[in-house]
Amino acid sequence: MRRMRDSGIEWQPMLTDAPTIANLARRLAAVAALSLVATATLPAQPVPTPIPVPPPPMGWSSWNSFSNTIDSQIAMAQAKAMAANGMQKAGYRYINIDEGWWLGARDAQGNILVDPKAWPAIAAGEQPGDMANIVRYIHSLGLKAGIYTDAGRDGCSTVGPDLGPSYPNTGSEGHYEQDFLQFAKWGFDYVKVDWCGGYKENLDPAVQYAEIARAIARAESMTGHRLYYSICNWGKESPFTWAPNVGGVEADIWRTGGDIVAPIVANTKNAGRKAELKEVLREFDQAQHPQAQHTGYYNDPDMMVVGMPGLSEEQNRVHMSLWAISGGPLLVGADLTRLSPADLATLTNPDAIQIDQDQAGLQSILSSQIAPGLEVWSKPLSTSGTRAVVLLNRTSAPAAISVRWSDLALRDDAPVSVRDVWAAKYLGAFQASYSATVPAADAVLLLVHGAETPATTYVPALSEQHDFAFQNVHSRFPVARLQIQYANPGNTPRFAELRVNGQDATKIAFPPTGNENALGTIVIEAVMDGRDGKNRFSFSSPNGPAPAIRSITVQ
Ligand code: GLA
Repeated sequence: MRRMRDSGIEWQPMLTDAPTIANLARRLAAVAALSLVATATLPAQPVPTPIPVPPPPMGWSSWNSFSNTIDSQIAMAQAKAMAANGMQKAGYRYINIDEGWWLGARDAQGNILVDPKAWPAIAAGEQPGDMANIVRYIHSLGLKAGIYTDAGRDGCSTVGPDLGPSYPNTGSEGHYEQDFLQFAKWGFDYVKVDWCGGYKENLDPAVQYAEIARAIARAESMTGHRLYYSICNWGKESPFTWAPNVGGVEADIWRTGGDIVAPIVANTKNAGRKAELKEVLREFDQAQHPQAQHTGYYNDPDMMVVGMPGLSEEQNRVHMSLWAISGGPLLVGADLTRLSPADLATLTNPDAIQIDQDQAGLQSILSSQIAPGLEVWSKPLSTSGTRAVVLLNRTSAPAAISVRWSDLALRDDAPVSVRDVWAAKYLGAFQASYSATVPAADAVLLLVHGAETPATTYVPALSEQHDFAFQNVHSRFPVARLQIQYANPGNTPRFAELRVNGQDATKIAFPPTGNENALGTIVIEAVMDGRDGKNRFSFSSPNGPAPAIRSITVQ
C-alpha cells in the first residue's frame, strides 16, 4: 500500500485474469497520487501509510438456533464444525455463548455460579461448573470464545423467556468489576452486553455502556487478556452517536435494531418459526450510519440468519451481500453442524468476506435510487479506485439497475473493470456505467475498479495542541470520503472527537504511526450539510494526547 503515491505506473483497466481485491491493488496502486489536487502548498512531507483498522468480528452465536438451551456439548459441537467445515479457514473465529448459560445464581461473595451439569469438566483435571473449561476447548481448536451478560440487574430471560422458565438476576449491574474480571479470567475473548434489564430500569445506555467499557479495560489490564466489546441495546438512544469509543474502548460493535428472527430451535415448540427477507432488509436499513462506522467501530445489524429455516439460497446471498457491503459483523446464527454446501459457499465466499473485512473499515452508502425499491449501494475499499457495489431490487418484478461511475467518485472517462462476486466472474471493462437485470427481491454484488476522481487536500485553518479545524470543506457528495493524514508517535491509539458543522460528534481512533514524522492515513465518511459547500470540520482531544492532524483529503 505504500506504493499509493509512487509515480509513473500506468493504469491498465483491462485485466485478463480474474481480479481479486489483492491483485487489483497491485496493478492500480498509483491512481491516488494522480487524483490529489492541493488547495494549499503543503510543506514537503513523508508519504503517509494507510493504517489498517480492526475489522468487524466474524464467528457464530448460539442464540438464533439454540435459544436458552445452550450448554457445553452444543458449544463444543459448533466449535468443531467451524474448525472442520471451512469457516475457520475463511476467517470465522468466535464461538459466542449467548443467553441461557447462567441462571442468575451467585455465591456469598457475588461470584457467578453455573450449572456443573451444563458446563462439566471436558479435560482431565478440570472442575465441573468452571467456564474456563469450554474456553480452553474452543481455544484448543484455534478459535476464540465469547460470553454474554446484561447491563441491568435482570437479563432478557426475566423479561421474555423464550424456551424454559424465567430466571431473574442474570444481569451484571452491581457486579460490573467482578463479572468482567471473571470473564477475562475464564479466558473469554469477547463479551456481548444486552439491555433487557437496563431498559426495564430506564437506565441511560450511554452511561451504563461507558461504565462497562471501563470495567472491561480494568479487567484487561489486570489479566493481560483482551475482551472485545459487543453492545446490544437494539439501537435505543441512537448508539451510533455515543458507542464509537464509548468509555475509551479501542474497537467495538453496537446493535442498531431488534432481532431479525426469534430463535428457531429444532425439536421444540419454536421449530416452526421462519426467518424472512423483509426483516433482513429492515435490519440492514436501520444499521446505516456511515458517519459513525470508522477506525474499528461498527454498526451491528444483528446475527445473520443464513442457513436457518426461511430464506432461499438467493435470499441468503442477498443477506450476505448486504452484511458484507455494510461491513457488519459476520456472526452466524445457524446450527453449523447442519449447514448445506450452498449455505457454506455463501458464508465463505472470499470476495464477500474481503469486502466485509476491508482494512479501511467503512460502511456502505446509498449512491443512487433509480426508482422506489431499485437501489445502488456502494462501499469504498482500501485499494485506491476500488468499490464494492450492491444493485438491490426490493420490488416484486425483475428490473434493470445501473450504476454510474461518477456516482461512486470514479472517473468515467476511462473504463472500469467489473467483477460479479456470486458468479465469480470478471465481466469486462465498462465506460461510464454498468447495468444488470436484477431478479425480483434479489441483489447483484459487484467489485469494481477504476480511477479515483480528483480530491481536494485541506490544511488546518486552526492547529493547536488539542484542536484542529478545517474550513470551507467541499464535496459534491452528500456523504464525503475523507482521508485524514496524521501522526501518532505513541504506542496506543489516540482519539479525537470530530464535529462536522453542528452535527453530533463522533470519536475517531488514530492508531500509532511509529513516530512523529511518520504519517499515516485513516479514512472516514462524513455527512456534508453544506452551507454552499462550506463545511467546517473540527477535531478536538480535550481528554488525552491528540493525534497531530496534518491535512484532510476530501472526495
Ligand atoms: C436480545 C438480543 C438477542 C439475544 C437475546 C437473548 O433479544 O437482541 O440477540 O441476545 O436477547 O435473550
